[in-house]
Amino acid sequence: MSEAGKEILDRVRRLRDLISFHNHRYYVLDDPEISDAEYDRLFDELLRLEQEHPEIVTPDSPTRRVGAQPLAQFRTVRHSTPMLSLNKATTDAEFLDFHRRVLDLSRVREDEIAYTVEPKFDGLAVELVYRKGVYALGATRGDGMVGEDVTQNLKTVKSIPLKLMGNSVPDLVEARGEIIMNKEHFTRLNREREKAGEPLFANPRNAAAGSVRQLDPRVTDSRPLMFYAHGIGNVEGAAIENHWQSLHFLKKLGFRISEYAKQCRTVEEVRTYYREMLERRNEMDYEIDGIVIKVNEFALQERLGVLSRSPRWAVAWKFPPQQEHTRIRDIQVSVGRTGVLTPVAILEPVRVGGVEVSRATLHNEDEVRKKDVRIGDTVVIQRAGDVIPEVVKVIESMRTGDEKSFVMPDRCPVCGSKVERLEGESAHRCTGISCPAQVKENLFHFASRAAMDMEGLGKKYLEQMLDKGLIKDPADLYFLKKEDLMKMERMGDKLAENLINAIDRSRNPSLANLIYALGIRNVGSHLAGVLAREFGSIDGLAEQSIEELINVHEIGPIVAESIVNFFHSEKNQEVLEKLRREGGIHFPVEKKKGKETPLKGKTFVLTGALDDLSRDQARKAIEEMGGRVASSVSRKTDFVVVGKDPGSKYDNAVKMGIRTLNESEFRKMISEW
Ligand code: IVH
Repeated sequence: MSEAGKEILDRVRRLRDLISFHNHRYYVLDDPEISDAEYDRLFDELLRLEQEHPEIVTPDSPTRRVGAQPLAQFRTVRHSTPMLSLNKATTDAEFLDFHRRVLDLSRVREDEIAYTVEPKFDGLAVELVYRKGVYALGATRGDGMVGEDVTQNLKTVKSIPLKLMGNSVPDLVEARGEIIMNKEHFTRLNREREKAGEPLFANPRNAAAGSVRQLDPRVTDSRPLMFYAHGIGNVEGAAIENHWQSLHFLKKLGFRISEYAKQCRTVEEVRTYYREMLERRNEMDYEIDGIVIKVNEFALQERLGVLSRSPRWAVAWKFPPQQEHTRIRDIQVSVGRTGVLTPVAILEPVRVGGVEVSRATLHNEDEVRKKDVRIGDTVVIQRAGDVIPEVVKVIESMRTGDEKSFVMPDRCPVCGSKVERLEGESAHRCTGISCPAQVKENLFHFASRAAMDMEGLGKKYLEQMLDKGLIKDPADLYFLKKEDLMKMERMGDKLAENLINAIDRSRNPSLANLIYALGIRNVGSHLAGVLAREFGSIDGLAEQSIEELINVHEIGPIVAESIVNFFHSEKNQEVLEKLRREGGIHFPVEKKKGKETPLKGKTFVLTGALDDLSRDQARKAIEEMGGRVASSVSRKTDFVVVGKDPGSKYDNAVKMGIRTLNESEFRKMISEW
């Protein structure tokens, strides 16, 4: 290999190590050392070097986390040693039974036993196999013997190391643990899905499991998942004698382990731990449904053995579920942005898991029928994390005979239009095109941060504007004058001005935000981005047929139909025209994906401060035109953009004879395009 080749290879290896190091600090230790921008620079440099020298790409490179093609189906894999399940205890007495059995069977004295205790994660059990320190396989637990090969999907989970840390890693490591989704991430994901009209996940566990079992790794990549290791399978090349050691062995290799794991030597210590975790449960970032108690020494574990797929050396002491009883006072129907009617149980207020609950969703009519929920019933309510509480079941023995059945109204409770249920859908929808409930929800959506981002314009103002007849649709917002706003309650001069300014500032949205803001059914913020990149403008999108749309990756027939329907609606066309012509909204035309661009293949390096552009804006402009930005000057650099007080990059550029651009030359270059 040439000297230059070696240099590049060294740099690439160094970059991969650096990125893995910072990745671990960020995703495992929650303690980043560098800024996101610095991290991005390292990543971009690696990406560029690998693109220029494809022969040096390795599968464990941090740039390869996503990239595999979607699968037609999952392969199955047999676990080298079975992934066991856990016996359960639900009461103190059952835990004591377990403890006594352990003492009896292992013939150790009470004061000789040591347990490791840890949270029982409520997620999806998986196994990760590392050969010679490199991630080789990821599989779900499945039935314990055979699971599904989800290697590519798990690769996108950033807390899973692609390469184990440390100088001498064992030849074979099987790490076992749980894929979870934090409660906060779960709530956010569901909120986005709700906005996009997509079905909601019932709880973080389902969300995590559903995200891992995706045939397209890119979908998994878009979901905020985390891996916690809680044990080892086969390990070759390391001597580990107990469970506590195995956790710290995993931690040293770069895995996240529970920060709550602890060693206990007495029954009383385990009990205290159980109580503490039960108390903490609601304030924790992720859901746990109990604690797991494991005999610490492997030698003892072996002596105790396994009985029908559950070890006799471990038990899951489960928490009581986050459920309560209460009575349903009424069942009301709420109307969402897309006109969907949702039956909601109005409850006698009750505290569940520390939070007062007075409403619970009944999802749709089929659910009400299936659970046979009636007004007046006493029911079991469940809260999972921060999710909307739901009715689990009716306690039939408490019926008095006075309960009343619920019937879905055939007229919208808000606007009185006919309600219909489309074939194949579980939802009833209001057919009124100007139903105030829909108009209101649509308006909230339009002004929200991820859409037109009208800062400070919250629901209470928008509601008043509608009620006072100041606006009828989103486009009307752009005609509002300060005097109009002053008609609202508790409105001051300054506040009105701020709101008008916020509306004004939103006149130049990005295409993705604008598409999202339109509130097309089934198009959330992610898909809006996909559509923007693919079609480049509202008009470009509006003229697509269903067939053309489904050719786009990630767009299925349902989404395609929603898009076509949206643009076919006369009412929508009117609002669009109103926004564009009278409202003065700039409808951006952006570069389409794959279109020839003037800076394609050109590499830029930025040095010094620019007057009119931030680094990020400059970088974006270059990237939008197909160019890329590198962090250091090399022979591959095409242009160096030189601002005020440039650094050594400028000197290097001059030395190497690379073309430099001052700010005005650079601006000219990007504006000519
Ligand atoms: S140990 C033989 N530890 O619970 C021991 N399991 O019912 C096997 N789980 O699917 C597992 N948190 O994935 C262990 N701290 C923890 C756990 C845990 C959750 C899951 C596990 C398995 C199920 C067993």
